[in-house]
Amino acid sequence: MRKKVTVVGAGNVGASCAVRIADKELADVALIDIIEGVPQGKALDMLEACPIENSDIRVVGTNSYEDTANSDVVVMTAGFPRKPGMSRDDLLLKNASIVKSCIGQAAKYSPNAVLIVVSNPLDAMCDVAYHASGFSRNRVIGMAGILDTARFRTFLAEAVGVSVENVVAMVLGGHGDTMVPLVRYTSVAGIPITQLLPADQLAAIVQRTRDGGAEIVGHLKTGSAFYAPSSSVVEMVESILKDKRKVLPCAALLDGEYGRKGIFVGVPCNLGSYGIEKIYEVELDGGERTALDASADAVEELVRVLRRNGY
Ligand code: LAC
Repeated sequence: MRKKVTVVGAGNVGASCAVRIADKELADVALIDIIEGVPQGKALDMLEACPIENSDIRVVGTNSYEDTANSDVVVMTAGFPRKPGMSRDDLLLKNASIVKSCIGQAAKYSPNAVLIVVSNPLDAMCDVAYHASGFSRNRVIGMAGILDTARFRTFLAEAVGVSVENVVAMVLGGHGDTMVPLVRYTSVAGIPITQLLPADQLAAIVQRTRDGGAEIVGHLKTGSAFYAPSSSVVEMVESILKDKRKVLPCAALLDGEYGRKGIFVGVPCNLGSYGIEKIYEVELDGGERTALDASADAVEELVRVLRRNGY
């Protein structure tokens, strides 16, 4: 039997996830949204592309969670995007209520699914999804680190003049202004990046990576990025559905790893059919640990606001 993925939210991120999954023939897709007609129209359009893409995937658009039943993976993209000048944190309470109700429904119909959370502010929305689903921590995963790392890799490849495929990097921490690109763990085909670029250029690229989401919002004005975010989601979906065990930076609920407990933050995860198969604790120097702690503190502050508001 073919695998099934539900994508919640038929906006730019959700629709791009759905079409990439269909094009790669990874799984049947249920695209759900509260707006009537939009998921149906987009799903039918995607389905009609399948003969050209040589894909026998079924794509269904719906407004009813019944049609999402028995999904292997649920991708949560619904929520308000940022406008210029807004931080991801400004979306906190508005999106918490959307995530809580959507995940509550999706989890009821797909009790064995792995959840991939994309809505912002990412790490705090993972916390909401974790509680709304009642799932074990290995089955609630946030997409952010792959996107932040892809941005970092793009800028580094351009600066060094090499293939993006050669750039191996890791961005940890929360998906916000305090994210932690790990320069010491970044290489070009095994050559440490510090031997290829001067410190000031590296520092500028680290900052551009941190501001990567806002840079896109600044151009688009009415929304946020969706091509690179959907690519990032689908890399996770593929690793889970095919049990590939890729090691990818994802938001995971920590239980003592990196000295933190009960908080979602971006760390290197092994993704397989069980969801998070393993969290890797990489060695951090003093500065890196301080930066990761500051990033986790920023997430904790958001979670405190959630708790004060009944989440
Ligand atoms: C970004 C938003 C989607 O980083 O968080 O582009």
